[in-house]
Amino acid sequence: MGCAPSTPAAGASTLSPVSPAKVAPLPSPAKPTALAAKPADAPTVSPSTAPAKGAGLVEKKVSPAGAGHPAVKSGQHAAMMQAAGASGQTIVFVLGAPGAGKGTQCEKLVKQFGYFQISTGDLLREEVASGSELGEKLKSIMAEGALVSTELVLALVKKAMETSDATKFLLDGYPRAQDQAIEFEKTIGKPAFVLAFEADEATLEERLVNRGLTSGRADDNRESIKKRFATFKSQSEAVIDYYKSQDLVRSINSLRHPDEVFAEVACLFDASCEFRGLRVTENVPFVPFVD
Ligand code: AP5
Repeated sequence: MGCAPSTPAAGASTLSPVSPAKVAPLPSPAKPTALAAKPADAPTVSPSTAPAKGAGLVEKKVSPAGAGHPAVKSGQHAAMMQAAGASGQTIVFVLGAPGAGKGTQCEKLVKQFGYFQISTGDLLREEVASGSELGEKLKSIMAEGALVSTELVLALVKKAMETSDATKFLLDGYPRAQDQAIEFEKTIGKPAFVLAFEADEATLEERLVNRGLTSGRADDNRESIKKRFATFKSQSEAVIDYYKSQDLVRSINSLRHPDEVFAEVACLFDASCEFRGLRVTENVPFVPFVD
């Protein structure tokens, strides 16, 4: 779902998957979080009504907390969205396990708020599709659910940012390793905030297997999906913890219809939105949604 050029920058040639052991730890990481986040754990919600019988839906309310999303304190929206990168750029990292809905929500944010989406997964797949020698090497790394080297991915991200005239960026799937966060901050800047989508692994697996029926993605099969989850746990969760320790993470429960998820997400980008409640789906088996 990316919308940026695909050719990697010259010199970006390191292809081996990133080894977690070689990465310097980030300062003061918080406790690791579970991949699974039950709807009832959604951090911005406080229960107010009993579960609706049979329907599996629980209506929950949040208290009004000034303009915008309740996770953003009243009057702080402008500060949160303040340009954090070089040259007045606003950068939002969009993170979460495979299938959590990063791409789906980014697409909606692009339409509604005019952000420029950079999906590192899409950029890498474009390289694979080109049939280049580099693409062949990337293909096997991605099918294994491993991470492509930071040097290469950061070069792709930088190039996409530099060749765009946008000032507001969604980085979809970056950073997903500790060194990626550190290198990005050194060379480009800090994110305004981090969107982190949460859902349980079983649901995500079903989403991805279902997508695999038509996506043609070489990593949308059960074997690769398990490996992608393992990589997320061993390398990417630490990035979310790092930004949690800086109070920059806005956790979003993605176990709802994409439009319901977006209703909450949009409030993080719009200080004037009327966000007063959530509908949280509980104990409902996976059902693919229809657009
Ligand atoms: P990438 O393409 O980023 O894959 P991913 O992180 O595994 O995420 P997906 O794109 O599969 O899921 P998503 O969270 O975007 O969900 P989506 O909206 O698509 O990366 C692929 C590979 O590239 C990596 O494994 C790695 O090898 C490499 N790579 C990428 N970035 C890298 C980096 N920074 N460093 C190193 N290597 C990197 O939705 C998934 C499905 O669920 C869709 O069918 C969608 O319709 C459905 N869905 C979405 N939301 C909902 C919902 N709320 N309810 C029901 N269904 C939903």
